[in-house]
Amino acid sequence: MSEKATTPPTSKRAHDPAPSEAYAALMKTGWAQSPLHGITVAPAVPWCVARRDALSEAFPGIRLVIPAGNFKVRSNDSDYNFRPHSAFVYYTGVAGVEATADAVLVMEPNGVGHQPLLYINPRSTRDTDAFYRDARYGELWVGRRFTTEEAQARYELETRHVNLLAEILGDKTETLLIRGEDKSLDEKVKVHKREAEFLTFTSGARMLKDKYEVDEMQAACDITARGFADVVRVLPAAVNTPRGERVIESAFFGRARIEGNDTGYNTIAASGSHACTLHWIRNDGDVKLGELLLLDAGAERDSYYTADVTRTLPISGKFSPAQRSLYMLVYEAQKAGFEAVKPGADWTDINEASQRVLAQGLADMGVLSVSAEESLQPDSGLHRRWTLHGVSHMLGLDVHDCSQARKDQYAEGTLKVGMVLTVEPGLYIQPDDELFAPEFRGIGIRIEDDVVVTEDGCRILSNSLPRHPDEIEAWMASLLG
Ligand code: GLY
Ligand code: MN
Ligand code: MN
Repeated sequence: MSEKATTPPTSKRAHDPAPSEAYAALMKTGWAQSPLHGITVAPAVPWCVARRDALSEAFPGIRLVIPAGNFKVRSNDSDYNFRPHSAFVYYTGVAGVEATADAVLVMEPNGVGHQPLLYINPRSTRDTDAFYRDARYGELWVGRRFTTEEAQARYELETRHVNLLAEILGDKTETLLIRGEDKSLDEKVKVHKREAEFLTFTSGARMLKDKYEVDEMQAACDITARGFADVVRVLPAAVNTPRGERVIESAFFGRARIEGNDTGYNTIAASGSHACTLHWIRNDGDVKLGELLLLDAGAERDSYYTADVTRTLPISGKFSPAQRSLYMLVYEAQKAGFEAVKPGADWTDINEASQRVLAQGLADMGVLSVSAEESLQPDSGLHRRWTLHGVSHMLGLDVHDCSQARKDQYAEGTLKVGMVLTVEPGLYIQPDDELFAPEFRGIGIRIEDDVVVTEDGCRILSNSLPRHPDEIEAWMASLLG
């Protein structure tokens, strides 16, 4: 065989010569059997059954194809860490280090409903060349994956080799695909007019969280709280290190990686006026005593459920009077936001409640050229120069969860028990804002918590982190000694 023919198509190592026949034969022999014993069912799996039932009911008679997605190249032969599409995670329970690129869930219509079939890139066993030659998938390079039998036991789904997927996709069965995740499926499955509706359904299905999901997000918030405490402990080091924001970012990242899978989104570690840049993820600034740190960070569990929490902390441990007065305005706005969260309320009520408090506060400070009432009218909105963003979004597998859901379910919908969302008002006075007195310029404040809607209001999942300035100062003192 030529060198090209013996090189698995996914191998990327140019320096890897074609093996001699003798070497190839040697690599296939002399290995002990190594079955995995004691495989347990993945924790989300019992919940996935009901989720799939609802999906099946919504699309009778149609084949549904939900890809995990392919690797995404970072540069040359390095990929980003693989993260499957959230719909695939939601309907299979496959997550964390077990997730593998190119897997696909197929819901195959069977007359009465659908049979779920899991297609995976299974273990490269010792009888394959890939095991020692394939740098992207081979066990010797990247570690062991499940065999199809092992995956079947773990996920309680009939599991097949992904190479067999083409066999079933070739027929005339009407097929809906989540497009844009798997290149080869995008080519094989023709566009269907209900594709957008399919994606919308899978996103909207996640609006109401089941108990497993709420517990996961509680755990994500608990890790996040420990990560914020880690950050407070490294503040003296951050102050003493050039680009101290990186000290902060990496302290949080350490906690997220040690206890969870990763951070759920890029950490915003914004010191001083960087807090006024909403998505400050460069995190390359110095950290100075006397300034505030806006830290927006969330730990993601191995299940991929994430927290999304912001605290604005005085780097010295004590708020200045100007910092405290602006902070209290955001604090009151968040309180009003929490109070608006209850079953039956409109989604927009949360934003309106918080914005009302902020607009009134800005009017009282004399920076608004119109009354708060007038500013709150849709054709005005002048206060938004300093409030900049909406105060709430759904949270779950994605930090901005359910973003494809129907408008009447989400943006124009009402709150229901079991929804999990953020409440995150902010005020941002740009450093060159001449409408504010100098002592306020360059102050950015956001307070962000994650809540689950309950029968009588909401429960704050991130409540273990202090919010009130007095509590923050006491908490920081206890950590800094
Ligand atoms: N961390 C992103 C957000 O708060 O929405
Ligand atoms: Mn958020
Ligand atoms: Mn956030």
